[in-house]
Amino acid sequence: MNALRRNTSADFSAIAADYDSSRFLPRSIVNDLVQRLLNIAVLHQGMAGLDAGCGTGCLTIPFGEAGICMTGLDISEKMLERARANAVSLPHVTFRHADVQRIHDFHVRYDFCVVSKLFQHVGSWECAAQNLTSLLRNPGLLILINERGAFRNSVRLKFSEIARANKFEFSYKGCSNIETVIDYFVALGFCVEDLPLPRIEWDFRISYDAAFGHLERKLFAEFWDLTSTQYRQVLTETRSWIDEQPSGGHTEEKMSPHLDVHLLRKLN
Ligand SMILES: C[S@@+](CC[C@H](N)C(=O)[O-])C[C@H]1O[C@@H](n2cnc3c(N)ncnc32)[C@H](O)[C@@H]1O
Repeated sequence: MNALRRNTSADFSAIAADYDSSRFLPRSIVNDLVQRLLNIAVLHQGMAGLDAGCGTGCLTIPFGEAGICMTGLDISEKMLERARANAVSLPHVTFRHADVQRIHDFHVRYDFCVVSKLFQHVGSWECAAQNLTSLLRNPGLLILINERGAFRNSVRLKFSEIARANKFEFSYKGCSNIETVIDYFVALGFCVEDLPLPRIEWDFRISYDAAFGHLERKLFAEFWDLTSTQYRQVLTETRSWIDEQPSGGHTEEKMSPHLDVHLLRKLN
């Protein structure tokens, strides 16, 4: 990875207005997770939590509604504007504009930090991990959450395949391998704890036209480094592939994601 890339992040400002309507994580699923974490005493009301890379607040808000004092942090003011609008009338939920790679002025310490889909977007993700570690109390918890299987629809996979076949370079800026992230936190002094949670899963259907619309609106950060000419070319080829399918853009795909949740405890 080159040095320039290391300090960059995927800033979601350009897609802030589209973010909520293009997500596949139902609020009821997050509420269910939060309730279960309260039931097994991983969380309790009155705790202070940080949601790093909070986006529009899709985790910050349900955690806050459960009585937890939440701070959402994001590098994008536009995402934070949406988060603030989504969180009206939640006095113990606040949002701060900051880059996790450069947190120097946070004087508060948190009981836990929740992170969902952040490290793949941060060039210096190890630096972000160190900074978040220093914001945790001792002992403090790190909760890593991802909706696995929600985004790998056939149209998006075809778009990647076509970009690769054309030898166009694209990738996430940071680390998208959760095991690598966990290993790094373990090296920082965390231990992985068992979470007695059932598999939390749901399903939804997406049409090829809808999935293509997401690509047209450039909702996926791993493709943001394609030039506009490259992006247009891949879109055109993807569209042709869709139109060759027996039901074309009306083809529907059933997606069956589940929540991937990891709990780590900071030991010292
Ligand atoms: C895929 S979104 C995830 C948002 C939210 N956690 C969720 O699960 O919906 C990634 C978020 O990370 C933010 N982000 C990217 N780089 C960041 C950085 N260096 N510091 C803070 N936030 C960052 C983006 O602006 C975006 O809102």
